[in-house]
Amino acid sequence: MSKLTVAIICGGPSSEHEVSCVSGGGVLKGLDKKSFTPILIGITKAGKWVALDENYPLAIKDKVMPTIEDNGTRVELAQGGLVIDGSFVKIDCIFSILHGEFGEDGKIQQLLEDAHIPYVGSGVKASADAMDKALAKELFSAAGLTVAPGIVVHRSDPHPDANSLSYPVFVKPSSGGSSRGTHKVKSADKLTAAINDAFLYDSKVLIESAINGREIECAVLERDGTSYASVVGEIVVNPQFEFYDFEAKYLDDATTVKIPADIPEADAQAIQIAAMQAFDAIGCAGLARCDFFYTNENQIIINEINTLPGFTGTSVYPKLWQATGVTYSDLITALIDSAINKAV
Ligand SMILES: Nc1ncnc2c1ncn2[C@@H]1O[C@H](COP(=O)(O)OP(=O)(O)O)[C@@H](O)[C@H]1O
Ligand SMILES: [Mg+2]
Repeated sequence: MSKLTVAIICGGPSSEHEVSCVSGGGVLKGLDKKSFTPILIGITKAGKWVALDENYPLAIKDKVMPTIEDNGTRVELAQGGLVIDGSFVKIDCIFSILHGEFGEDGKIQQLLEDAHIPYVGSGVKASADAMDKALAKELFSAAGLTVAPGIVVHRSDPHPDANSLSYPVFVKPSSGGSSRGTHKVKSADKLTAAINDAFLYDSKVLIESAINGREIECAVLERDGTSYASVVGEIVVNPQFEFYDFEAKYLDDATTVKIPADIPEADAQAIQIAAMQAFDAIGCAGLARCDFFYTNENQIIINEINTLPGFTGTSVYPKLWQATGVTYSDLITALIDSAINKAV
């Protein structure tokens, strides 16, 4: 069989631009070059699509995160491929590893659908639904999964009566990421400021009971219609952080992932089943990372699902699969195969 051409797309306009670059560099390195020919495409923060050569620096160097610079080349989507500086290149599959806005919310997925190019991961609707935490929680509940009790406030709604809530609560934008705009509120007098800050990120805000539990993550991989769950891992946040906030996520040594999580086998299995149910409830494809709370009373509560989780060689999603026996390179191949088989 002749080699297939895979375009890797990274960067993008979201606040997770840099992480996406590192993920893109990982996919490029991990891609099985015997089966696939890579084409590397970057999207600048301003949204320009550019062609990059394979040596473009996408690793963290001296603690500086990579970014996509506008190098003057131009890339456009076309039917079945890309037009790179005016020349058409047929593309067999797109591995877009853009996190957050535009990449994870269904927008690029719609463009790729319109161009009839197979792509890795969830489709337009599942991507959009997963990105909207309030909506995703409704779908999880309807599928029988337990979610954190809470209320949704729209920008035009009056704020809830601060004295009617039991504290602590978490206030967060319905559509967000990297814990931006997310606050643990411990008393009624701090509620308004937290809600106002969360509204900077979205017009819909969640106010949830703070769950006192460990954070457990499970990776789901779907191949040809069947989903598989990885071993589960626990996010262990350095106790100097109040919760898994922005700094804890991105500062060195602030967090570790314990794989497998040290929890009873039966509960680990229940989390794996819940992860696959969550994947199906949203209608995901390819990959997703499901994040749970696991309480001292052994209760399993789903927090959220990420349809394009961090995908660097050391990110949680690939690490969970590594521990389950799937190498980074095999994972990439499986995702591409699944995307291509779905499209035919
Ligand atoms: N209801 C909750 N109870 C306890 N902790 C929470 C709750 N909601 C969010 N958190 C904390 O905030 C972090 C970020 O919230 P999350 O909903 O996962 O948003 P993001 O998409 O930004 O990761 C979680 O990993 C967790 O540490
Ligand atoms: Mg999260």
